[in-house]
Amino acid sequence: MRRKIIAGNWKMNKTPSETVTLINELKPLVASEEADVVFCVPAISLTTALEAVKGTNIAIGAQNMYYEESGAYTGEIAPNMLTSIGVKYVIIGHSERREYFAETNETVNKKVIKAFEHGLIPIVCCGETLTQREQGITIDFVRQQIKIAFLNVTPDQAKIAVIAYEPIWAIGTGKVATTEQAEEVCKAIRECIAEIYDDATAAGVRIQYGGSVTAASAADLFSQANIDGGLVGGASLKADFGKIVNYK
Ligand code: PGA
Repeated sequence: MRRKIIAGNWKMNKTPSETVTLINELKPLVASEEADVVFCVPAISLTTALEAVKGTNIAIGAQNMYYEESGAYTGEIAPNMLTSIGVKYVIIGHSERREYFAETNETVNKKVIKAFEHGLIPIVCCGETLTQREQGITIDFVRQQIKIAFLNVTPDQAKIAVIAYEPIWAIGTGKVATTEQAEEVCKAIRECIAEIYDDATAAGVRIQYGGSVTAASAADLFSQANIDGGLVGGASLKADFGKIVNYK
């Protein structure tokens, strides 16, 4: 049985002091024996967040990192900077990074490899646009994203990866995918991992759904056979996140 993983993607929200306030508010609400809970906060708040979650079940994740070890990369954050302070997860290839910051499948792959090299668990994002869905190429497109993201990633690494399927048309729009749509693509992603590696690896990978998840939609989505939790944006900044974590 795969353990559920429910991650909040705070995006570019909350100052360090607001982070402490929100974590203190959410701490009792997200306590859970059954799911891993991750808060992916802005880089400037990572240290503060790590301090604020001490003694709780909440792990801290970054929203991005660079694929080089160090050097002349102004504005970037290296993987060992994250691990040195205790960050466990890192979101890689979110559609907003692909759209606004020129991330490609190739840079995603480099980052995924680097994250594993440093013992970080990547939350690898994929998902189609509305046009691609209407053209009927969703699964082809997502399979390509996954195949490239996992190039040269070993089976042992792949099986601890987290993949977030996030249809772009559902992100921040209030338009959540139906459970059938979400399950169909998450199942296809697991089959794709089985093709690249084997069934055992595919059975280990945790696949999240993301895109306008709320307390109202979480239970149906997360009870699908191939959906192992969610990557939650807007609703992760509110008390609702507690209900999402404890969706049952
Ligand atoms: P949303 O964002 O829940 O606000 O749609 C999800 C995400 O982008 O990870």
